[in-house]
Amino acid sequence: MYKHLSHLYDTLDEFRTETRDKLLDCIPDGNGMALDVGTGTGIGALKLKIKGYSVDAIDNSSSMIQVAQAKDPDIHWQVEDIITYHSIKKYKVILCATNVLNHFITPNELKAVIIKLHSLLDSDGILAFDILKPSSFLNNPSEFEYNELTIKNLVDSNTQKAYQSVTKDNQTDTTIVKIWDVFLVYALLRVCEWKTIELKESPLSHIFIAQR
Ligand SMILES: C[S@@+](CC[C@H](N)C(=O)[O-])C[C@H]1O[C@@H](n2cnc3c(N)ncnc32)[C@H](O)[C@@H]1O
Repeated sequence: MYKHLSHLYDTLDEFRTETRDKLLDCIPDGNGMALDVGTGTGIGALKLKIKGYSVDAIDNSSSMIQVAQAKDPDIHWQVEDIITYHSIKKYKVILCATNVLNHFITPNELKAVIIKLHSLLDSDGILAFDILKPSSFLNNPSEFEYNELTIKNLVDSNTQKAYQSVTKDNQTDTTIVKIWDVFLVYALLRVCEWKTIELKESPLSHIFIAQR
């Protein structure tokens, strides 16, 4: 889906801004390395740079990375899947902003990504991520396809029209997103031995700040 949405993504940003900004507010200014996982069009990565970090940013969609790359050549943008991503660097901060972890749709995948993020952090490093609340969507489905029905509730009618014209031509290009139970995610973090886990709320998402 992101292949066709990448050039529209920033116009759809309104409903994600609040969640992303809340995550970024929990990350102190600093130096050293930060990683933006599922960077999309790079908005979070650019903000991490403003906070003082040297930023690596990965996304498994090459179209999203292409859009991000044009914004700042200093950030190290890479087309990578977090599950297979390998780095000898250890990061002070990892950001997974606005629905990235909702793309891992089995408990095993979610656990694997949480373990991977833990392994990429410095000791005391901070992970900031969110998971969507079911109340963000009509009928509270526990699993849904991102399509014009769900987008309809979230964006203004002009953007919606543009989005529909994209999906119309690409009916099969959908992305499945899982709405995780907040307690299950919390329990997974505990099992994976994060030192501290803070849970905050924003209107659309549960916000997690965990320290390695
Ligand atoms: C809803 S977008 C969020 C983008 C960005 N973080 C933001 O705040 O706008 C989710 C992003 O996660 C990326 N993504 C999904 N699964 C991924 C994976 N396994 N590895 C890396 N990126 C992934 C998607 O390609 C998409 O760009």
